[in-house]
Amino acid sequence: MTTFWSIYICVLTIGTLIGLTWLLVGTRKGENKGENVETMGHSFDGIEEYDNPLPQWWFMLFVATLVFGVGYLILYPGLGNWKGLLPGYENGWTGVNEWQKEMDKADARFGPIFAKYAAMPVEEVAQDPQALKMGSRLFASNCSVCHGSDAKGAYGFPNLTDSTWRWGGDANTIKASIMGGRIAVMPAWGPVLGEDGVKNVAAYVRHDLAGLPLPQGTTVDLNAGKHAFETTCVACHGANGKGMQAMGAPDLTVPEAYIYGTSLGQLQQTIRHGRQGHMPAQNELLGNDKVQLLAAYVFSLSQANKEEKNAE
Ligand code: HEC
Ligand code: HEC
Repeated sequence: MTTFWSIYICVLTIGTLIGLTWLLVGTRKGENKGENVETMGHSFDGIEEYDNPLPQWWFMLFVATLVFGVGYLILYPGLGNWKGLLPGYENGWTGVNEWQKEMDKADARFGPIFAKYAAMPVEEVAQDPQALKMGSRLFASNCSVCHGSDAKGAYGFPNLTDSTWRWGGDANTIKASIMGGRIAVMPAWGPVLGEDGVKNVAAYVRHDLAGLPLPQGTTVDLNAGKHAFETTCVACHGANGKGMQAMGAPDLTVPEAYIYGTSLGQLQQTIRHGRQGHMPAQNELLGNDKVQLLAAYVFSLSQANKEEKNAE
């Protein structure tokens, strides 16, 4: 704040306080004693108004708010550039500063617990109920916007509880996905394949790879689609369409694993214009210790799912 505005605020605030005090004391009337009640001097249909002083309690309450206001302005920042007498407001009062203080307090309290888990392998952390509880809270506040509160994903965001992974489902790869983030690049094939080529390969992907039926009356050349897939797509999606985790190219043989939809229209859209899924890196946002708990939590979800499947 510039000196001018600081002085402006001080003058305005102190002036207001002095003005209010003057108003309060200057207009105060003595206690009304005896029978002699004064009236305001007007009368409406014989009804008159008393001119009594403010009740004592009301007056004291007013004084108390003034004293509180002055005390507050001395102790805390608020009066222009004045930082307040209390320690901890050297940078003034801002919501961000307060938040940072809360975070520092939390870090001091939970730091040793985080450090304990950070030193353990992720798989082992995933067995610890307390760690999973902390992980699930972190997930709810940092990840559920995209992956859903149940981590089952949504359009454009992968399900983290199933057994298909775009980048890999072992504990360390999951951690790497969260720490460093991921940027998937599916190139746009429209200009290369042409409109018919896009339709043929989309139908091939849906019918032959995902194993889903084609709508009746679809006129496409599945053989041409297969040929196009084998010449243009296998480099990333693999010879049998099972994907390649090194580049985040998904397995196209599992219909549930598609995040951009499996209808012919959606597939054509994906192939024609390409897709760029972006998982934001968390290393600078949350740091290693929190990501460790998140990785353990996400890993535990898919493990629990696997066990359920085995039991069925
Ligand atoms: C802004 C949205 C967004 C947020 C927030 C987000 N993610 Fe993601 N995440 C994605 C997208 C999109 C992908 C898929 C990237 C791709 O297309 O390959 C992804 C992928 C992943 C993967 C890899 C999945 C696989 O199949 O290999 C993991 C693990 C993951 N996210 C965990 C998390 C965790 C844990 C958090 C919370 C710290 C989080 N994500 C927050 C959007 C998000
Ligand atoms: C350079 C590597 C590369 C090539 C070549 C490639 N893809 Fe992809 N493809 C990817 C990646 C990476 C993704 C994941 C994109 C994302 O997550 O945003 C993807 C996603 C897709 C998806 C969407 C899956 C979903 O989750 O909904 C389809 C369908 C697809 N590719 C089909 C094809 C077809 C058909 C071809 C050949 C014409 C092809 N791809 C060629 C890398 C490639």
